[in-house]
Amino acid sequence: MDYYTDYSLEEYTTFGVAAQAARFFRFDTEDELKKWIRDESPNHPEKLVLGGGSNLLFTGNFDGTVLYPAFKGIEITREEGDSVLVRMAAGEAWDRCVEWCVEKGLGGIENLSFIPGHAGAAAVQNIGAYGVELSDVLAEAHGYYLDSGEAFSLDCRDCDYDYRYSIFKGPLKNKAVITSVVLRLSRVPRFNLSYGQVQEAVKKRGTINLRNIRNAIIDIRKEKLPDPAVFGNGGSFFKNPVVDRADFERLKHAHPGIVGYPLENNKVKIAAGWLIEKAGWKGRSSGKAAVHEKQALVLINKGGASGKEIARLAYEIQSDIRQKFGIMLEPEVNII
Ligand code: EPU
Repeated sequence: MDYYTDYSLEEYTTFGVAAQAARFFRFDTEDELKKWIRDESPNHPEKLVLGGGSNLLFTGNFDGTVLYPAFKGIEITREEGDSVLVRMAAGEAWDRCVEWCVEKGLGGIENLSFIPGHAGAAAVQNIGAYGVELSDVLAEAHGYYLDSGEAFSLDCRDCDYDYRYSIFKGPLKNKAVITSVVLRLSRVPRFNLSYGQVQEAVKKRGTINLRNIRNAIIDIRKEKLPDPAVFGNGGSFFKNPVVDRADFERLKHAHPGIVGYPLENNKVKIAAGWLIEKAGWKGRSSGKAAVHEKQALVLINKGGASGKEIARLAYEIQSDIRQKFGIMLEPEVNII
């Protein structure tokens, strides 16, 4: 275990903004974490569990205690016919996990290629892209409760998954540390090419297989989304809002081009990127923060932006979208 005080978090979030944690603990083994919870946890009332930092925006220094699980390891734990259970330690880079599975011919997460962050955080956030969400393949999440120190093993149903939501973002927020996730993958993959753009890009590569899907998605993401090494960012800044069909029809009447995807229960998910672009924000800067010129849902750090500056831009967009469309955008990024 490593322990630091007044520790810079700049390298730990993909926004790359300056911020310090009053206390920072890094755990390399589960035993270190278990011992820390038993001996230390009660002395740290304000905790924050950090993953790959791809969904966090610090608007100032954090006065509490950051816990950083750095556990590594990926392994097959069980095979039942075509179905294969793969355990990934929470601190593994998510995309390394995807590559590992694609390489071994295990299907299920290839559409989630090239998403930044760690495996543990992927289960917190219920990452999703191109028609697949982590909750489609997650079998179990393992970890420890920070108050009692008890180990948990939650199966997918107990994680309360929804669009970019899980129990770890709700009642268990910063109250539990995930140590590993177990995914149920398949040796006989069912490809998901429901996104037209992905289907086209895969066809261009010839055969439909895991490798071609992964590579096509990497190319699509590289084309649209900024590289955090060049411009700090946290992927989509807002969630796509879900509204009642009747409200969507009213909006469509006023804005015929609006983009929406029908869901169950007479709901429609609206493309927030369309709303933001339509409102004139795409490519606009505010100081050193800006709206990405190729994807209006992504806010970027043009270099040296403060967390406050980026958050201010987000609030301006939020308020403008509410005024123009009557929709309150909810941040996907966790603003601290
Ligand atoms: N659009 C615009 N202008 C824009 C951006 C988007 O008009 O500047 C419209 C277009 O009609 C486009 C549609 O919005 O077809 C959807 O855009 P895109 O396919 O880029 O996806 P998204 O809805 O903006 C979501 C996820 C992404 C995920 C993609 C692909 C959320 C909040 N975001 O974005 O996830 O990669 O779908 O499945 O659900 C993330 O969560 O950080 C993330 C990047």
